[in-house]
Amino acid sequence: MEKVFKGKEIDLAVGELASLLKKAKKTVILTGAGMDTESNIPDFRSKNGWWKKIDPRMVASTESLYNDYSLFHEFYLMRIKLLEGIVPHEGHYIIADLEKRGMIKSVVTQNVAGLHTVAGNQNVYELHGNIKSIRCDGCNQGAKLEDFFAGKDCTSCGARALRPNVVLFGETLPPQVWEDAVGDIKSCDLLIVIGTSLEVYPVNQLPLWARGKTVFINNEDRGAGYPFDLRIIGKAGEVLRKLQEKL
Ligand code: OAD
Repeated sequence: MEKVFKGKEIDLAVGELASLLKKAKKTVILTGAGMDTESNIPDFRSKNGWWKKIDPRMVASTESLYNDYSLFHEFYLMRIKLLEGIVPHEGHYIIADLEKRGMIKSVVTQNVAGLHTVAGNQNVYELHGNIKSIRCDGCNQGAKLEDFFAGKDCTSCGARALRPNVVLFGETLPPQVWEDAVGDIKSCDLLIVIGTSLEVYPVNQLPLWARGKTVFINNEDRGAGYPFDLRIIGKAGEVLRKLQEKL
């Protein structure tokens, strides 16, 4: 039976989560943009989210890459520049500590800023890629971030097609990363999902494939149609801080 906790009940819920985590032999954490907002990176679909201001098809799709490279380039340049000075918050470090203590197997993330790795997690599956890694869309050759910043063409094939290694609308997820992440999720006995609207396919299917216990932490009431064992409505950083205190 699903249990939903908010406000003052969060302490109770975190107690349940802590005991699930202590019992679990293999735990996986799945994160979305809500994991990074407390580091001042906007998410996509809440009030101040990117896709409330800009249509993703205009700037973050294969159509935009092929048909309006200048706008595509401008958008990603702005996104990358906004990451200057951005660092992980306490919640990221708590997740990294859980891995160091052997309490979680891996982190599967939709986020492209790389904050889990910066915080110290080693087993991170970046399902939507990494925004600071650049390649040529034409020949696939890796390129320097500064060349993308300078608006240069590919030094290998000459195409005007440098792009971040992120999954654009209209593209599929990196197959090996996806396969490994799915393998971990199908075989874990606890999946903790943090800060995602669960609107984006195929990642929104992953909680349905977990065979063990599932817990959802989000600051707005989402995920009601999913068979989560626990839903905690609260901020990622706060819930993780309380969790750490109980471990
Ligand atoms: P969304 O913006 O769709 O959802 C983020 C969720 O996190 C929302 O429900 C927020 O309310 C919640 N949230 C925000 N801050 C939070 C906090 N501090 N604590 C807890 N929850 C918080 O982002 P995603 O679900 O990650 O794809 O979006 C999935 C994909 O859509 C992204 O990876 C991106 C986007 O198009 C690509 O770039 C390929």
